[in-house]
Amino acid sequence: MINGYVTISSLSSYEGKKATLAGWLYNSRSSGKIQFLIIRDGTGLCQCVVEKGKVPDELFDKLERLGQESSLTVTGTIRADQRSVGGYELAATDAQIISLAEGYPITPKSHGIDFLLKHRHLHLRSQRQWCIGKVRHTVIDAIRRFFNDNGFTLIDTPIFTTIIGEDQQTLFEVDYFGTPLYLTQTGQLYLESAAMSFGRVYCFGPTFRAEKSKTRRHLTEFWMVEPEVAFIDLDGLLELAENFVSFIVAQVLQNNKSQLETLGADIAALEKVKPPFYRLTYTEAVDILTSPKTRDFLAEELQEMQNQKQQLESKIAELEKQQTGQLKQWEVDKIAAELIELRSDLAETDTKIENNPKHAKLAAEFQWGKDLGGSDETIISQMHDKPVFVTHYPKEAKAFYMKTDRQNEKVTLNFDLLAPAGFGEIIGGSVREDDYERLLNRIRQQGLNPEPYSWYLDLRKYGSVPHGGFGLGVERTVAWITGEKHIRQCIAFPRMMDKIYI
Ligand code: 4AD
Ligand code: MG
Repeated sequence: MINGYVTISSLSSYEGKKATLAGWLYNSRSSGKIQFLIIRDGTGLCQCVVEKGKVPDELFDKLERLGQESSLTVTGTIRADQRSVGGYELAATDAQIISLAEGYPITPKSHGIDFLLKHRHLHLRSQRQWCIGKVRHTVIDAIRRFFNDNGFTLIDTPIFTTIIGEDQQTLFEVDYFGTPLYLTQTGQLYLESAAMSFGRVYCFGPTFRAEKSKTRRHLTEFWMVEPEVAFIDLDGLLELAENFVSFIVAQVLQNNKSQLETLGADIAALEKVKPPFYRLTYTEAVDILTSPKTRDFLAEELQEMQNQKQQLESKIAELEKQQTGQLKQWEVDKIAAELIELRSDLAETDTKIENNPKHAKLAAEFQWGKDLGGSDETIISQMHDKPVFVTHYPKEAKAFYMKTDRQNEKVTLNFDLLAPAGFGEIIGGSVREDDYERLLNRIRQQGLNPEPYSWYLDLRKYGSVPHGGFGLGVERTVAWITGEKHIRQCIAFPRMMDKIYI
């Protein structure tokens, strides 16, 4: 109950009772004698049934003309109805219109993504964005809960930074009173310093990368959580990461089942996300990429996509034929919406068909020593039904701070965690180089000036210990869990290389 209004999420305790809902008109239809108003109030959707004669005629007429997203309160009796959205409906006896909305630009018909991003301030009200926002909320809550309950101390690391944390190529430079500084790419280096005080720490905040790529996996501003632990080795990190990710998924399954269903997420696959995850070394991953098994796997995938393309084309042709018949307005809208969906699926299938041979070639010709590319990660992750750790990457392909494996100096003690079913990397992490001389050499080898790193090097002078950590990207995790294809849908106001809409 808020301010005397009953929230839709609490309707189960109002069965048979009178209640007043306050919200917005999500959708409506009328048969002349009876109207069905779908109201959303931020906690869910509820169908309100307005019968002629049960409310004053004047009100009935007003409601019939009410535009989508008008705000109103509706009073009536709550009854259970399995067919109704949310499982309950309201038999209206009264309503009050708070504010009229006319010509709401986002209709129940689908729109293109550019249009929706330009109208993000309104599109956030859509069912899909609402469901994703709810899942994201749970993911963030689970992140904090996991670390808080496992002896980690939160350390807020700075956003203006004096040193390059990850990659020189993706820095956002800021003019800080005449001195160039960078927006943070990672809190890790600062966190390492805090780990030497608190033992187990984490930071959680916005992260900036001038990614010059327009892929579905990259934002220029995203949220990353990073734990850092003193006295931990690679096995310890993998265990921490798999427990952490399993906890997040379990929390979402517990709190957001209905949103996952609405989004069409693969709930059965999420239920499998429990430790232990698969573990591959980079070298094993390369063997997989270049194996005949992968070649066959990709050929099969191509065949499947071609079949899918045919099915989509025939469905589209069928609907286009239906469009020419005598139809009611709601049928016209429904077909138009389905067509937009199908055409966007078709475009996506076409892209996949086009990319398949390119990705197959990249995989087949993969040379040991390179970093895994997006398509390589996708292939490995498609071949697994649970998240996969890939460990021990070549030193040259990875950041300067990663500890060299003393058993094999060519590789580092690091890992990426790939989400299954083609989603790719959601975590990157490593044991940190804790030897002063080796770290200094790595900084120099990567062409970095050691001077600004002097404080970071100090940590190796005063009681250096084995330590490590990782970073998990929130948007990629939400995209994977919800089955959303593009991470721009997993943050309320996305920032991308070429586009900032609002
Ligand atoms: O693998 P990354 O670059 O690792 C680090 O930044 C380490 N310093 C973390 C650590 O060890 N403390 O980034 C970690 C994760 C990626 O796996 C990905 O989920 C996310 O951050 N990420 C991005 N998400 C969205 N857009 C981008 N441009 C991203 N770049 C990285
Ligand atoms: Mg990475």
